[in-house]
Amino acid sequence: MFNAHGLFLALLVPAHLATTAAPTASQPRAQASTRERTSLNVGWRFARFTSNPDALSYETLKPWILPAANDFLSAPKYKRPSEPGPGAKVSYVQVDFDDAKWEKLDLPHDWAIKGTFDAPGVGGGLGRLPINGVGWYRRRVSFDTGVIAAGKSVYLEMDGAMAYAAVWLNGNLVGGWPFGYNSFRLDLTPFVKAGENQLAIRLDNALDSSRWYPGAGIYRNVWLVVVDPVHVAYHGTYVTTSAVSPQAATIVLAVEIENVNSNSRQQVEVSTKVYELDPVTRKASGGAVATFPGARTNVAGGTKQTVNSSATITSPKLWGPPPKQHPNEYVAVSILSINGTAVDSYETPFGIRSIRYDANKGILINGEHVQIYGVCNHHDLGSLGTAFNVRAAERQIQMLQEMGGNALRTSHNPPAPGLLDITDRLGFLVMDEIFDTWNNAKTKNDFSRIFPDWHEPDLRSFVRRDRNHPSVISWSVGNELAEQSSSVGGATVKMLQDIVHKEDPTRQVTVGINNAGPGTQLTDTIDIIGLNYQGEGKGNSWTSTFPSFHSKYPNKLIWSTESASTVSSRGVYLFPVTSSKSAVVAANQGADPTTHHVSAYDLYAPSWAASPDKVFEQQDRHAFVAGEFVWTGWDYIGEPTPYDNSSRSSYFGIIDLAGFKKDRFFLYQARWRPELPMAHVLPHWTWPADRVGKVTPVHVCTSGDEAELFVNGVSAGRKKKGQYEYRLRWDAVTYAPGDIRVVAYKNGKEWASASRYTAGAAAALNVTADRTTIRGDAQDLSFVTAAVVDKDGRAVPQASNEISWSVLSGPGRIVSTDNGDPTDMVPFSSLKRRAFGGLALAVVRGEGKGDVVVEARAKGLLEARVVVRVE
Ligand code: GAL
Repeated sequence: MFNAHGLFLALLVPAHLATTAAPTASQPRAQASTRERTSLNVGWRFARFTSNPDALSYETLKPWILPAANDFLSAPKYKRPSEPGPGAKVSYVQVDFDDAKWEKLDLPHDWAIKGTFDAPGVGGGLGRLPINGVGWYRRRVSFDTGVIAAGKSVYLEMDGAMAYAAVWLNGNLVGGWPFGYNSFRLDLTPFVKAGENQLAIRLDNALDSSRWYPGAGIYRNVWLVVVDPVHVAYHGTYVTTSAVSPQAATIVLAVEIENVNSNSRQQVEVSTKVYELDPVTRKASGGAVATFPGARTNVAGGTKQTVNSSATITSPKLWGPPPKQHPNEYVAVSILSINGTAVDSYETPFGIRSIRYDANKGILINGEHVQIYGVCNHHDLGSLGTAFNVRAAERQIQMLQEMGGNALRTSHNPPAPGLLDITDRLGFLVMDEIFDTWNNAKTKNDFSRIFPDWHEPDLRSFVRRDRNHPSVISWSVGNELAEQSSSVGGATVKMLQDIVHKEDPTRQVTVGINNAGPGTQLTDTIDIIGLNYQGEGKGNSWTSTFPSFHSKYPNKLIWSTESASTVSSRGVYLFPVTSSKSAVVAANQGADPTTHHVSAYDLYAPSWAASPDKVFEQQDRHAFVAGEFVWTGWDYIGEPTPYDNSSRSSYFGIIDLAGFKKDRFFLYQARWRPELPMAHVLPHWTWPADRVGKVTPVHVCTSGDEAELFVNGVSAGRKKKGQYEYRLRWDAVTYAPGDIRVVAYKNGKEWASASRYTAGAAAALNVTADRTTIRGDAQDLSFVTAAVVDKDGRAVPQASNEISWSVLSGPGRIVSTDNGDPTDMVPFSSLKRRAFGGLALAVVRGEGKGDVVVEARAKGLLEARVVVRVE
């Protein structure tokens, strides 16, 4: 039964399944009886132009693009002009244009990620990669005569395209969507014909469009939907749950039915059943656990109707975050019928949970207090760029969970829909954020350019797209807005929050506030006070604004939408080390002006920011604060503060760009997973001869409450964590080769231990894979690490040998390499990469079936291999 409706396939079926089902470029497709949603990811041709090749622009295309906004305006106001849109004469939209010389590729695709890191006009802030220009994508799509004769509606659904997308079918301008982070749908029906159809998509990615690496191209999935003219609308269902208890829950379902491509009134019957969602297959499992009463409605041609109904589910399996709760999911399957014949089938995955926002206790999920141990992340996936990949995104969330993290802020824009499937499945809470700017620009070509026309359609479609995800616990409508303290900012936040409340009355709204104080119109208005940095006190200041906000707004929840912004390069320790808990980074104070690295002691931050230790103290001193979202969980491309003028990627991550843990990973783990026996000691203990006898502070992260340090077998003393102490420090230790060993205690009992040894000369490579069995669907990935080791297999922590990667045999390909070094300008596509801090990474994709042998070699070192089984 091919009845999987849009949302279900888009959000839940792993991309590989959908890709397998995709028609090839000119393969005829079967006529579907209900909804058919297939991936259009395979078989595109692409060309990028650094100067405008077609004389088109958003301004000239706008009258044909704006009508796509109508579905998401309280008062639809745009009429498509009667004349054919511009571009009809542009060769790239023509059926007979010869694109054989264009690059052949599959989506998702980020045109900039291959490099190189020297794109003219693209500074460090945007990652130095060639994001700018006009990109054209072309693909043929075939329809059999049955589809046309049956009068089916045909839609193009795009999960996201960067940016200013405009779409032509058979030379006709269909429409478009400017905001590169949002998902959108276009109606191809009026332009579709039997046989071959030519799709052409133009993207326009300006310089200065962002404060970080935005990526470029059709970087998310593309879908083709063929459905009866009477069908469930785009993002057309809304499930809410109420009266949630272990005994029962009420589920309220709204189904919006659209009858837009026909002139005839139809009597439509809606029936919905609820099933448990199998977490592995992502399909309905077992028999129905609840049935909504059938409902009937008349939908006139060219209109929409919403049908509301409710059902009770007994003994519901609730959705909640681990470790105490479990992320159980359900799926509502709605069938639309006319005269007893099914015309559409639509699946809405959801979860049953309650949420309370308590100004003193914080977030309560199903009655349990859940302190927010969150991070902010940008959308890129390191060396893979912004091209969305389920496994790469899942790896990010899993490593955050390993650290004890439980929440993500999608800074500062809508994520790929697939990311929210992962957070639902893994039980990871989400602050879903949409904007970094409103009316006032931060960079010349950012969203402020189109905010007046697009804030409402973008915001409504975003909330409708994501509101069924149980992992989403809050909406954020903006970050550090230039207008935050003014009456204009106050009016804007009210307008945006009102829209969100209309689309989803069940969740509270927040915004990242870095300057505005209590009593501004914005802080008076917003549901949740989201503070960027001012809670812990910026830079050298310890003055916290938590108390003043709490006393002014005793009924509002407060959280740190952004905390820390600690900067560091993994494995690079610089001396001397500050004796402070947190210090402002500067040349020779935590930062090396020659190498452009920042100290891995993780005590340094820019003038507006703080170390983790300082943030923890301020959170603990103000127990009403619901938690924090650390800037950032993972390093990202762009914004390499404090070396924006020279580096390529950020220093802010707890985890580096390659996915290797920085030392502070363990500081967070010690706090966020107090039940996990762990100890971690830094720095490494393999220093050159000129360090011998010099002060080399030793710091320990542990979930214990006490620890004893041994330097070359001699105790350096046993220390107990004081109040507001989160790491144990032996700041007077002097270096001598050998080893350091820490034994941690909890409640007086031995709890965990850790050691570092002085390694000998680099002798060999050691290669390991995060997963040694992967799927061969050209989507699944294995992340393979090469470590430089001495003859005894000990990590050589400062090794920087150049490593050559290859696939010796088997159905696999190395798609990118990295080492987590923000200063490394070797393109991510290179198979040769220096180790950084003794480590390098290769990302391996499975394509087929068999054993893939991956090898790493380096001059003078014994090579090593790992076998990845592809199934
Ligand atoms: C914040 C901003 C983030 C990022 C961060 C770096 O002010 O909201 O997007 O720039 O600073 O510390």
